Amino acid sequence: MGRTLPKPALRPFLRADTPVLAAIFAAAIEQLTGDDYSEAQQQAWASVADDEEQFGKRLASELTLIATLENSPVGFASLKGADHIDMLYVHPAAAGQGVASMLVEALEKLAGGRGAKSLTVDASDNALEFFSRHGYVPKQRNTVTVNGEWLANTTMQKMLAEGASSGDSK
Ligand SMILES: CC(C)(COP(=O)(O)OP(=O)(O)OC[C@H]1O[C@@H](n2cnc3c(N)ncnc32)[C@H](O)[C@@H]1OP(=O)(O)O)[C@@H](O)C(=O)NCCC(=O)NCCS
Repeated sequence: MGRTLPKPALRPFLRADTPVLAAIFAAAIEQLTGDDYSEAQQQAWASVADDEEQFGKRLASELTLIATLENSPVGFASLKGADHIDMLYVHPAAAGQGVASMLVEALEKLAGGRGAKSLTVDASDNALEFFSRHGYVPKQRNTVTVNGEWLANTTMQKMLAEGASSGDSK
């Protein structure tokens, strides 16, 4: 008898989740971004979560959702204000199973609920294709400094459908 794969579930962030989200953040960067960023860039980016106090404050100040598989966190995403996706990270062991898609779709509904007409994200190069497939359009190329390293990303935007805020499923 085949066993059905567990389905991811979503729940809100709690302050006690900070260490596990910091670990997911670092693992995702270290293992999933190597085709697009140098080791020095990856290290600088991953070290953003080294200060857990600061990282936890950032997660708490935004609308942060956690994706779980069999109750264990495997990914997270955060909405800054009404209309900007700040973070989206999935543990490499859970990648390619639709976890990020589920998180982004949930944030789009929540953004609609906050009155947003569109959503933006500063997408890393490795996430460009993912966001394109989800209807995000590149607007602007950026270069930012993170812990002394220059990293490129792309501001992308998606117009949200009318009625996205009403919670209707059709
Ligand atoms: C980008 C990232 C969040 C994607 O996470 P993910 O959970 O693997 O994404 P999904 O599984 O939803 O989609 C990824 C691919 O898996 C495939 N996929 C989705 N659902 C699937 C399923 N049920 N079964 C098999 N494959 C599936 C899709 O082909 C999808 O391809 P696409 O990226 O071309 O759209 C993850 O790679 C990551 O954390 N990267 C490093 C951090 C980063 O750059 N974050 C973005 C900052 S803006």
